[in-house]
Amino acid sequence: MSQLISIENGIDLKIENLAKKFGDHTVLQDLNLEINSGEFVTIVGRSGCGKTTLLRLIAGLERISKGKINLDHQTVNSLHPQIKVMFQDSRLLPWQKVLDNVRLGLPKDSRSKAMEVLHQVGLATKAKEFPSTLSGGQKQRVALARALVSNPRLLLLDEPLGALDALTRIEMQRLLEDLWLDQKFTAFLITHDVEEAIALGDRVILLEEGKIVMDVKIDLPRPRARGTAEFATLVDRIRSRVMNQNSFFDSELHANAA
Ligand SMILES: Nc1ncnc2c1ncn2[C@@H]1O[C@H](COP(=O)(O)OP(=O)(O)OP(=O)(O)O)[C@@H](O)[C@H]1O
Ligand SMILES: [Mg+2]
Repeated sequence: MSQLISIENGIDLKIENLAKKFGDHTVLQDLNLEINSGEFVTIVGRSGCGKTTLLRLIAGLERISKGKINLDHQTVNSLHPQIKVMFQDSRLLPWQKVLDNVRLGLPKDSRSKAMEVLHQVGLATKAKEFPSTLSGGQKQRVALARALVSNPRLLLLDEPLGALDALTRIEMQRLLEDLWLDQKFTAFLITHDVEEAIALGDRVILLEEGKIVMDVKIDLPRPRARGTAEFATLVDRIRSRVMNQNSFFDSELHANAA
């Protein structure tokens, strides 16, 4: 794979005593987390536990209720130009061709750089197509190219592979890992898939009711072989903890039954 850049590109992230409330509803509380430059951290947890809220706070898309978030020792209080976010849906502009979607907001001379990144995600031949002609996996690859074209130092990913079939998902995981190894940005990936979290993360963090309840270092060589006993043991350990949590639906059921 060609090198887009050769120097370390990540950002240090330090979250201290973070809390977030929506009205009276406390979504995150007393949250402390340090992520080193270039680290790949994955976040798992039941629906409604606060994963997206945390990501949006880091991105500067949401106001902090208490505590602080520092990026390279500077407090986050608005959108940061070196942070990019990728969501479950590709959010491509349907009236713009693939290449123009990748170059959105970039200067005129960005064409060759955008083509290079499209090549890296394997979609150079689709540069002149409209997004409507692409599959779901291809659209997510364009979204990834768009996120990476400006060499972000922190890439925030909110279940970007959630809507893809199992095989496409594994291909995309490999692509994401290759690009991260190549560019060395800091990566923060939310996923519901514990295997994906272990396949990609240097650390897997489990959120439960707005708190970090597990932070597991994954010491397996990359690319990670999923068939090994070590991998299976980690999957069991993390999954059993996730499954033992009360889900949003359980609490709704209890509330309804009361
Ligand atoms: N803008 C908002 N206003 C009020 N409540 C909100 C808002 N955004 C999120 N919440 C609440 O915060 C809680 C956490 O939501 P969040 O989207 O962070 O969960 P999540 O862990 O990402 O869930 P999922 O896995 O389903 O995506 C939920 O109870 C949700 O209803
Ligand atoms: Mg979410």
